[in-house]
Amino acid sequence: MSRTHTRHRRSRTLFLAALATVLATTGGTALAVGDSPGGTAAAQAAAARVDNPYAGAKPYVNPEWSAKAAAEPGGDAIADQPTGVWLDRIAAIEGAGDSMGLRDHLDEALQQGAGVIQLVIYNLPGRDCAALASNGELGPTEIGKYQTDYIDPIAAILADAKYANLRIVTTVEIDSLPNLVTNTGGRPTATPQCDVMKANGNYVKGVGYALRKLGAVPNVYNYVDAGHHGWIGWDDNFAASAQVMHQAATADGGSVDNVHGFITNTANYSALKESNFKIGDTVNGRSVRESTWVDWNRSVDELSFAQSFRGQLVSTGFRSDIGMLIDTSRNGWGGAARPAGPGPTTDVNTYVEGGRNDRRIHIGNWCNQSGAGLGERPTTAPETGIDAYVWIKPPGESDGSSKEIPNDEGKGFDRMCDPTYEGNPRNGFNPSGALPDAPISGKWFSAQFQELLNNAYPAL
Ligand code: GLC
Repeated sequence: MSRTHTRHRRSRTLFLAALATVLATTGGTALAVGDSPGGTAAAQAAAARVDNPYAGAKPYVNPEWSAKAAAEPGGDAIADQPTGVWLDRIAAIEGAGDSMGLRDHLDEALQQGAGVIQLVIYNLPGRDCAALASNGELGPTEIGKYQTDYIDPIAAILADAKYANLRIVTTVEIDSLPNLVTNTGGRPTATPQCDVMKANGNYVKGVGYALRKLGAVPNVYNYVDAGHHGWIGWDDNFAASAQVMHQAATADGGSVDNVHGFITNTANYSALKESNFKIGDTVNGRSVRESTWVDWNRSVDELSFAQSFRGQLVSTGFRSDIGMLIDTSRNGWGGAARPAGPGPTTDVNTYVEGGRNDRRIHIGNWCNQSGAGLGERPTTAPETGIDAYVWIKPPGESDGSSKEIPNDEGKGFDRMCDPTYEGNPRNGFNPSGALPDAPISGKWFSAQFQELLNNAYPAL
């Protein structure tokens, strides 16, 4: 062994010893810059958490979803995958009808010997202000009820000592905060409902309350929803969204220590990787950012967005050890329509159109997208800065009904779920790209499940 090599080995050993000391004194998590050990309760809870809750932990399989998947032809191939448990109304905590409640899921997780369970916190007042399909049970002003009848009982159950060894991942309030940035004020995409939620502050207050209450439970890992690249990837939304998330996390004395990370692409269809073109590509001297599809976005796909948005969040004041999750349940875009390679270099548009994996008509389309497939199977620590690829939206559950269907969940009819709709400012007045004959959001949609299997990428 050469002398140089020996010296190299030795400094590496010293480094590892020093790292071990740091990890031992911080309970396994490297300290974020600026944190002091023994600070607030939130800081101590944060320091006691593992860096990546998915690492080395068997994930919980929701038996209710699993049974529906297994009952479908070909569904066995994925029926053992972990999916999100959606607490989408107060009744879901106890379990509506004969469906499982929160304790049933947690007890079942212990039975399975699971180490990590994924919950979706989704019941804000005035929910889903820029769409109707997932409007909820609480009116815009019912913040008090949200706190006492929804978050408090959930937090009390999660704090039960018998669940203390389970890592509980919560994804917090899908689609809420980005709406305050992009769909308010004088913007052409503004909706009156989002203006109301911005003015009354109840999204910010609600998310802040959820993060504080749930974050007080040491084995809870809060991941705040961060839209997707086709929503907040533009310059006028990117930094502003990180700011509103910071505002929510620190509302009413809250702390960034209650935020373990962020999740992107929840229940959406944005491709994980556009393998046939990159943001820096040019054709005949024109940037792909000038193409109609990319339309000046800073990211062309979800992985690059999640990584760059992570950097933005840290520079906005979130902890430097936050991790990202990406929902890959339905962003596979495989099957016969998947391009075999880059598009022709006639101009930026032929190049991007011919090569893009995301086959949506417009990137603003979000409801039951025709042609979509299952994406990457749930995977731990797949890329730098990414804690996991997860299936939070359970494949096979509808995004919204394709026509008006009366229901008692507060779900509206959004024409973005109607295949005959010609669009609105949020999808550039394009057809919706939605599958026909869909049930209301959350209900089983067999035809979509079959499409997702057929168009899976990677293939099953
Ligand atoms: C939708 C629905 C919700 C359902 C969830 C998962 O957002 O509004 O009720 O639980 O999707 O399918």
